[in-house]
Amino acid sequence: MSDSFTFSPIGIIKSCYPDKFGVPRQSGLVKKAYSELKIKSEFQPEISLQGLEGYSHLWIQFVFHLNTSARFHAKVHPPRMEGESIGVFATRSPHRPNPIGLSLVEIVEIKGDTLILAGADLVDGTPVLDIKPYLPHIESVPNAKGGWAQEVSPGKISVEFNPHSMEILQKWSEKSGRPELKEVIIEVLKQDPRPVLYKGFESKESPYRNKHAFRLYDGDIHFEFLSKDQVIVFDIFLQN
Ligand SMILES: C[S@@+](CC[C@H](N)C(=O)[O-])C[C@H]1O[C@@H](n2cnc3c(N)ncnc32)[C@H](O)[C@@H]1O
Repeated sequence: MSDSFTFSPIGIIKSCYPDKFGVPRQSGLVKKAYSELKIKSEFQPEISLQGLEGYSHLWIQFVFHLNTSARFHAKVHPPRMEGESIGVFATRSPHRPNPIGLSLVEIVEIKGDTLILAGADLVDGTPVLDIKPYLPHIESVPNAKGGWAQEVSPGKISVEFNPHSMEILQKWSEKSGRPELKEVIIEVLKQDPRPVLYKGFESKESPYRNKHAFRLYDGDIHFEFLSKDQVIVFDIFLQN
């Protein structure tokens, strides 16, 4: 038997996150973040998607195609552990021997060969290897233990917009027909997307920059943490 395998994507994700920075660290955290998956015609979506309309959620297996290093590390530093390390197989880190990810998303709509999905944690352009329906009657485990990941779940962060960014946001939402933009920005920032390096210098002299930006669709959201649990959106730049 061969010990290496070649897979070809069944489709490519179109998501609201153009870059890795700002993408939530797990699926389901930003519920109104929409994405699309168009199944390639060679996989006969008109037949292969039959029956999927009976499910509300879907597992996506995908490739972390934007990983920059292929070196194997048995221990990794998940951002939530703030400097601590742990065995890679005890994490959902993108940096693993086979860079394959697993996300649980909501099926909003099936439009012919295209699935409209919500809650994904995937960068735009992510190659999808497979999709499988989520089976709530079997896979839901209400009393399951959540390990270290549950113990370090983020605290409460409040998100504000200054009047200038709020005005741009309102116009952007109307023009793009995306009323969910404000909620998506709030949910992304509540997860504190900053790398560990930048944390702990809020309102203090910092050796690093304390202003950051993440991209959402064609917008650039500029924000600053005023304290560890308070963030302000101070500007939004739009490409179009
Ligand atoms: C911790 S991983 C979890 C992904 C998946 N839910 C899992 O458990 O396998 C989520 C992070 O992967 C990164 N990511 C998302 N899509 C990616 C891609 N196509 N290539 C590399 N990194 C990606 C983003 O930075 C995101 O915050």
